[in-house]
Amino acid sequence: MKNNRKVVLVGDGAVGSSFAFTLLQTTTVDEMVVVDLNEEHAQGDVIDLQDTLPSPAPTDFRTGTYADATDADIVVITAGVPRKPGETRLDLVNKNVKILESIVNPVVESGFKGTFVVSSNPVDILTTITQRLSGFPKNRVIGTGTSLDTARLRVIIAKELGMSTKGINAMVMGEHGDSSFVNFDEATINGKPLREFPNMDNAGHLNEIEKEVKGRGGEIISKKGATFYGVAVNLTKICQAILNDADVVLPISAPMNGQYGLSDIYIGSPAVINASGVQEVIEYPLSDRELEKMHTSADKLNEVLVNAK
Ligand code: 2OP
Repeated sequence: MKNNRKVVLVGDGAVGSSFAFTLLQTTTVDEMVVVDLNEEHAQGDVIDLQDTLPSPAPTDFRTGTYADATDADIVVITAGVPRKPGETRLDLVNKNVKILESIVNPVVESGFKGTFVVSSNPVDILTTITQRLSGFPKNRVIGTGTSLDTARLRVIIAKELGMSTKGINAMVMGEHGDSSFVNFDEATINGKPLREFPNMDNAGHLNEIEKEVKGRGGEIISKKGATFYGVAVNLTKICQAILNDADVVLPISAPMNGQYGLSDIYIGSPAVINASGVQEVIEYPLSDRELEKMHTSADKLNEVLVNAK
């Protein structure tokens, strides 16, 4: 068994460098390699981030090439064209599929045997395509999916009710995008149904919360041009679960194999993450109307997947 913990990051834009910063500050990693078309910029980032580490540095942190994936535990893909104001995540698909091909093929050729973690958008589509291009077992390909939307949802509910996000067991599921939905019918706070909390039995209000969550990414992009800290922290949580073999349940872009009546697609659902990647997809017991939303979301993704080239 190998005993060094190694992560290769492909894509050193705002998401990639925020992820590198977060991971290096919080997690024991023996080797971290940054691969980017703009190698000089990546070198600058590596030197800058090295300044945040103690000496001797716990991590051999450097720039490199796809060949470095050969003995990595994780290849994180953040590369891609990001959303511009007014663009949907699905608008990006063909541009980013081309970029993905140029990454996944050489990573596989390196002999990589770890887990791909994808955050480039549209993340459910690009995660599905990463698995198809790589031919990897489905458990070894993960997308950040609705982990970010779920974090946003919990913050909004916690702020409104004046409590901690910790006990809030509510999730965003489906596409990381416009057809996502909140599992309000099953949501609880410390075991008590969410609908029993003030104003949470009002369907119109719950719709507003859902709308606010869905609009959060676009709102940030319209104000500052990009979103990166939120997704970087969720990428870090997924990588920690893999590196620590932690069996943590996270809402991710997960491979469907009959769950919710879906298959051959990645979509937002809770799953258990450990050193084997997706240890198990948890089929959450959705109400009929929520199951319908899950299917609508999957139909939308499948339509795009059929035409993706
Ligand atoms: C977000 O929701 C852009 O998908 C990214 O922040």
